[in-house]
Amino acid sequence: MDHVNQLIIFDTTLRDGEQSPGASMTCEEKLSIARALEQARVDIIEAGFPVASRGDFAAVKAIASEIRNSVVCGLARAIAKDIDTAAEALQPASRARLHTFIATSPLHMREKLRLSPEEVLERAEAAVRRARRYTDDVEFSPEDAGRSEPDFLCRVVEAAIRAGARTINIPDTVGYTLPHLFGGLVAELIERVPNADQAVFSVHCHNDLGLAVANSLSAVLHGARQVECTVNGLGERAGNAALEEIVMAVRTRQDVFDCDTRIDATRIMHCSRLVSNVTGFPVQPNKAIVGANAFAHEAGIHQDGMLKNRMTYEIISPEDIGLNATRIVLGKHSGRNALHTRLQTLGLQLDNKADMDALFVRFKELADKKIEVYDEDLQALISDLMQTAVADHIHLHSIRASTDSLGKSEATVTLGIAGQNCTHTAVGTGVVDATFRAIGKLTGTDCTLNLYSVNNITTGSNAQGEVTVRLTQNGHLVNGHGADTDIIVASAKAYLSALNKLPPEDATTRVHPQGV
Ligand code: KIV
Ligand code: ZN
Repeated sequence: MDHVNQLIIFDTTLRDGEQSPGASMTCEEKLSIARALEQARVDIIEAGFPVASRGDFAAVKAIASEIRNSVVCGLARAIAKDIDTAAEALQPASRARLHTFIATSPLHMREKLRLSPEEVLERAEAAVRRARRYTDDVEFSPEDAGRSEPDFLCRVVEAAIRAGARTINIPDTVGYTLPHLFGGLVAELIERVPNADQAVFSVHCHNDLGLAVANSLSAVLHGARQVECTVNGLGERAGNAALEEIVMAVRTRQDVFDCDTRIDATRIMHCSRLVSNVTGFPVQPNKAIVGANAFAHEAGIHQDGMLKNRMTYEIISPEDIGLNATRIVLGKHSGRNALHTRLQTLGLQLDNKADMDALFVRFKELADKKIEVYDEDLQALISDLMQTAVADHIHLHSIRASTDSLGKSEATVTLGIAGQNCTHTAVGTGVVDATFRAIGKLTGTDCTLNLYSVNNITTGSNAQGEVTVRLTQNGHLVNGHGADTDIIVASAKAYLSALNKLPPEDATTRVHPQGV
């Protein structure tokens, strides 16, 4: 694929996606998503906003140190400190991109930045020049371009390219534009900016009116050659354009698009599940491409058509996005080899032997309890293992719980805290409540529970349940997950995995990139 026909996929799940309230991720979780994106052949991974906090800096640096087959990008406002910090975090990358931005709409310039258009223009140019000291691969975004005046936008874009930006990203920051207008804006910029041929034009659309994907695709039809998107459409407010929808729309309608992406679409389902697991944001059942019902055919008339020819009601095969038509099942007689082979097929290899050993033990325990172990179960086991790998200072030893539909429920929880076992019995309005109260007492924590959700991984009453909790304490928000065939145990694991992620009390809060 030559570069004119390549549609570059720039994933910002770890930056814009993580800005979504409640979606904060640990460094280890960000790394696992970055690995999955690299396997899916994402061209550019926006790993974060390094100046936001020490944790954000460390995560970008860790991703830059490990990822080799995707460009790793860091975001910076048009401020010298941001740019220098992003460059430092990206230093270990084999290919680094610096992405700098400043708002250009009259409203943002006047109310947020309190700068004149001329001052914004100067800041944009200076930021790109500074970024170019560190890398040739500089991207510039005029924030809120969708509401900027086209004449001014042309001047800023021309100045940014003159200063050395090689990618010009046009954001519809507030999801305000419409497909024909946005496509027209991109076409106008490519046409009117004298040095437009020296840059790749990119788009970054938010979904406030449900048009992020449509607006992005319209821009592609008008010459954009990079789309910024996120897995499952995660992102600020209503989210960003969904990666899976962009990729599959372009691939399915090759009769319309004169470009295609390099994405290995068979990795889409894995990325979707991983992001949903890590953030605790479920995927709605009717979500395009990755929703549980995206390939389900209920109505008799549809099923009849499908049996005659799948294409009657299916424009994409489930296999194309990594959903297996034949569900291979492992059981208690499956050995290490069978497990390893299945994980390889699913792209879920574990790097070190100790993790693989621990997984095998958990797999055997699960197979004893539920006979048939499905791909989804394996995914949940790995996610659970990842959580407990982080959860090293508090772990669950045992729970004994009882409930009485006429009275209070009770839970006796034993935790290992810093090598010591301690036990507490608490009562609550249900066993989950009693369990969380006992954990709170044992750990001396007083968190607010913002989210508690249960999802059955496969069908049947012996299926594993996957619990997600979201906790806040002192302004810090963390997600935790746990999976088990017993929902109370899964709940306790989820609660503990969240507690183990809470930062120390003196940790500072993060800077938001689109503040001032
Ligand atoms: O939505 C937006 O404008 C952004 C920029 C930082 C590109 O996220
Ligand atoms: Zn954005």
